[in-house]
Amino acid sequence: MKIARSPQLLQKLVRGLKLKGRTVGLVPTMGALHHGHLSLINKSLGQNDATIVSIFVNPSQFGPGEDYLRYPRPFARDKELCRAAGVDILFAPTIKAMYPRGYLTFIQVENMSDILCGSFRPGHFRGVATVVAKLFNIASPDRAYFGQKDYQQLRVIERMVKDLNFLVKIVPCPIVREPSGLAVSSRNAYLSREEKTSSSAISKALQQASYLIKYRGLKNTGKIINKLKELIRSGIPGARIDYIDIRDIDNLEKLSSVEGPAAILCAVWVGKTRLIDNIILKS
Ligand code: PAJ
Repeated sequence: MKIARSPQLLQKLVRGLKLKGRTVGLVPTMGALHHGHLSLINKSLGQNDATIVSIFVNPSQFGPGEDYLRYPRPFARDKELCRAAGVDILFAPTIKAMYPRGYLTFIQVENMSDILCGSFRPGHFRGVATVVAKLFNIASPDRAYFGQKDYQQLRVIERMVKDLNFLVKIVPCPIVREPSGLAVSSRNAYLSREEKTSSSAISKALQQASYLIKYRGLKNTGKIINKLKELIRSGIPGARIDYIDIRDIDNLEKLSSVEGPAAILCAVWVGKTRLIDNIILKS
């Protein structure tokens, strides 16, 4: 496994691969790798001649007072996980290499970036879109892998790729969960044991809502959201709900009634940890 610390070196390595006609898959991450990340990596390994994993805790997507400084950075462990998985190139740039002095360019995917997580984390998706666009330009991937766990992020990136004519194919990957149902996340490391146990109420509530919609004919989104709030509050003592919402699965516009495909999305604080989860109803 090669390790590239600068965009210039990665670009050189990728040029070599492309000259040999190799296809390239990119898995962008912020490290603290877990089974969710590994599922993306394995999918890329199966679909491309070469797989690049990027590890970069991107400062521009964290707001003031967020967890940028305490975000876990177990680099030696991440490196070994990538090597053992069969990753071809690990891209782990420095902040200076990604945002050198004088950096001024940012990408804003309008409207979709200001709703849901965006309204609680102003500037977050601007930072995400910017760093992902940079990664696409540096790695020139044929395919790039994103988890449905961060559903809004996936949709924002897909929009950006369409709007800015990137040639990359975005491959959405299903949410990997703990046996309890809790969506695997690097931030789960912040949870105490009790918090981790009670947090499974989030995915259980989403499952129950999907049952009520599918088999009990519940359609009114206001009623479904209230039910979800009740389930989450009773399962997680002291839970603070940023939002629970039901949206169009493509453009994330609000739905007043569930008549077809729909995305139920939520962000919930458990103690000092903000967890996000979602469930996609296909019909
Ligand atoms: P990070 O949180 O490290 O996630 C990297 C990728 O792994 C994302 O596409 C995310 O959706 C996916 N992922 C995380 N947990 C998952 C799970 N339980 N199941 C399936 N996929 C999962 O998302 C980011 O980093 C950053 O915003 C990034 C895109 C790298 C830009 O900085």
